[in-house]
Amino acid sequence: MTAAVLGVIGGSGVYDLPGLEDVREEAVSSPWGEPSDALRVGRIGETKIVFLARHGRGHRLSPAGINYRANIDVLKRAGVTDIVSLSACGSFREELPPGLFVLVDQFVDRTHGRATSFFGNGCVAHVSMAHPVGPRLQDRIAAAAKAEGIAVARGGTYVCMDGPQFSSLSESKAYKAQGFDVIGMTNMPEAKLAREAEITYATIAMVTDFDCWHPGHDAVDVAAVVAVARANADKAARLVARLARDFPATREDCPAGSHRALDGAIMTAPAA
Ligand code: ADE
Repeated sequence: MTAAVLGVIGGSGVYDLPGLEDVREEAVSSPWGEPSDALRVGRIGETKIVFLARHGRGHRLSPAGINYRANIDVLKRAGVTDIVSLSACGSFREELPPGLFVLVDQFVDRTHGRATSFFGNGCVAHVSMAHPVGPRLQDRIAAAAKAEGIAVARGGTYVCMDGPQFSSLSESKAYKAQGFDVIGMTNMPEAKLAREAEITYATIAMVTDFDCWHPGHDAVDVAAVVAVARANADKAARLVARLARDFPATREDCPAGSHRALDGAIMTAPAA
């Protein structure tokens, strides 16, 4: 049995995790390069928590400049079994207003040129991304939200763009017409790499704006994103704390198969 370790990746506006106890910093190094920041390792209740600020403290890293492979690798080396990704996003739906948390269950990758895999020539693997979010982990997040009286919407598709510029009006309308629910700049390739690392992944997409499609709202700007993200940070910390307090001691099997994603995925023949 594997001990459960909860990884928390904090996005815009979330650069630490209030409530984390017995905290120590660990600068874990990775053959994939520099992670965004030192890990902050501690516990909430009986659950070990490993926190990583995705953009680094002081928000130094642009979405395309983040070393997603190093980030996932150091979390894996720290023993993380489950990742909760806290991510600011824009909304394409009237019923998903700023301030709401959306537990998305699908991603569409519209990024280009990011390193999306730990595998390549020499060792080839094809993991399934049919169900990128761990449903049991998501159930636990939903239960924690309910217990804390935090409104969440369940399900939805997060489209990931490169940025750092926000979308044009035509792009925004096209994404909305394609049925995407929210938009952000970071969850791909993060979710793909977590799957390759056999870490269960779930996103709390924290809506900060209506992007620019909404005729009744100003086009998104970073001041609005930061203001809402900051206002959401305490709520997110409360939700994570409850999730951690109710988390099982040992890793649960993931119905989406993330705990054994590499079983049968590697094409390359073992060396004789
Ligand atoms: N992050 C927060 N709001 C966003 C938006 N409208 N587009 C892309 N990423 C975002």
